[in-house]
Amino acid sequence: MRTRILDILRKHPDEYLSGEEISRQLAVSRTAIWKHMQTLKQAGYEIEAHPRRGYRLQNLPDLLLPYEIRDTVSTKILGQKEIHYFTEIDSTNNEAKKQANLGCLEGTIVLSEEQNNGRGRLARGWFSPANKGIWLSIVLRPPFNPCDAPKCTLMAAVAVTKAIRSVTKVKCGIKWPNDILYQGKKIVGILTEMSAEIDAINHVVIGMGINVNITQQEFTDDLQDIATSLSIITGQNISRLLLLNAVLLELEQAYEQVVQQGFSVMLDEWRELSVTLGKHVNVVGSGREFSGMAMDIDDDGALLVQTETCLERVLAGDVSIRPRV
Ligand code: BTN
Repeated sequence: MRTRILDILRKHPDEYLSGEEISRQLAVSRTAIWKHMQTLKQAGYEIEAHPRRGYRLQNLPDLLLPYEIRDTVSTKILGQKEIHYFTEIDSTNNEAKKQANLGCLEGTIVLSEEQNNGRGRLARGWFSPANKGIWLSIVLRPPFNPCDAPKCTLMAAVAVTKAIRSVTKVKCGIKWPNDILYQGKKIVGILTEMSAEIDAINHVVIGMGINVNITQQEFTDDLQDIATSLSIITGQNISRLLLLNAVLLELEQAYEQVVQQGFSVMLDEWRELSVTLGKHVNVVGSGREFSGMAMDIDDDGALLVQTETCLERVLAGDVSIRPRV
């Protein structure tokens, strides 16, 4: 009912609509309309209520509310069927895994305005302040072999990079495997988690944290030198809703292409958007540390690093880009 009330108000942006008119269109009482208006106001919609003229929608809330997402997002599957929205949650990835285990549909998304225990790769945390970013998890059920699942992360990185570039014009790039950076500082982190049998994937949860409107002062001390946000870079507040739409659209297109044609086009796009290839890198992981030149990624998405003695194939670990000495 609230979605239908919002639809009517949105169609008449500059006019007042009487409670009587809205109640007639929706075939419910004026008291019911009044109650729904109160709930919408509590959710952050600015609705002017004039005693004689009626109701007028003045401003939409800066929230990623399911009604707004359904109205804005132009995907076919992602975010179209199930949207699980929270004001605050521990981690959207935890919730998405729970929903996936309960049998949710492919394309289900979980969003929260704030995470109080956001998780990053390598058991790190993820800073997720209220209303300042996109803290999103997407459930996919890909028909791939489980050994191809790590490439879902590369696919997500390509999709988010393209979405950010098109919405904000920020020329960000991908650090292997899936950090999105601008001038060496991180804007986006991606955490992909999978449940699989030996030969089939049950589900993949792609979790994305996008620093959209976080100010420099809001970042915690440990993040001051290594993280940034799109609003800091552009000097403007960015619409999280428009960016979310672009991310879901790009990801849906990339996913369709990978399912139909395989990974090679996506891997080429990853190479083009990479800020790692051709750089001197330091690799830490599996109890080892080494450095060398990042040459390429192979068909499995592994990073190929030429050291002084051999070509190393990196499938997991922490890669940092070093200035050449
Ligand atoms: C990383 O760079 O270490 C990955 C960070 C991933 C953060 C996102 S925010 C939404 C989703 N929920 C989580 O708990 N983590 C991911």
